[in-house]
Amino acid sequence: MSCINLILNRKSIRKYKKEPIPETIRDKIIEAGRQAPSAANRQPWHFILVTDSAVKDELSKSRFSSFIKDASFIIVGVCLPYDQVSKIWGVVDVTIALQNMVLAAEVQGVGSCWIGGFNENEVKALFNIPLEAKVVALISFGFPDEKPSIRQKKELQEILHKNKW
Ligand SMILES: Cc1cc2nc3c(=O)[nH]c(=O)nc-3n(C[C@H](O)[C@H](O)[C@H](O)COP(=O)(O)O)c2cc1C
Repeated sequence: MSCINLILNRKSIRKYKKEPIPETIRDKIIEAGRQAPSAANRQPWHFILVTDSAVKDELSKSRFSSFIKDASFIIVGVCLPYDQVSKIWGVVDVTIALQNMVLAAEVQGVGSCWIGGFNENEVKALFNIPLEAKVVALISFGFPDEKPSIRQKKELQEILHKNKW
């Protein structure tokens, strides 16, 4: 499938094969995050790579993330702003980097799912993340073991405004 069709057909994957993701593929996913655009190139992002089963189990305690214990790896996206620009745009920067990873996974046959259902204080304590940082989201990655149907999206005419609102 062409790259554009892979992106257009992407779905959140919540069931993963046991097979681990080779490091070469994983490294490209992470590199896609590192290469993301960033406001004034401040790059206030930090990523925690989680492969440890006990840590994955701990992160999967929320009812919105129970499936991530079976993921090959998880990326915790953290914003640590250090100036005015990164204070304003840091969360956007981290979001773009994480979505770059999602797309880099998709084109390499790796499924993923965004996770916003976590307790930020608990995640900070688990990884010793600085208090002034913001945990933006978690993304789980693994080879897909399900073929979910495409989720309904809003119709284009409802969301696309041409030249004026
Ligand atoms: C910011 C954000 C947070 C999300 N949090 C969760 C979550 O905690 N648990 C979960 O199962 N899915 C989560 N999702 C996935 C959405 O449910 C999913 O993207 C949406 O239903 C559309 O489905 P699709 O990704 O297959 O197109 C999240 C997605 C985003 C963008």
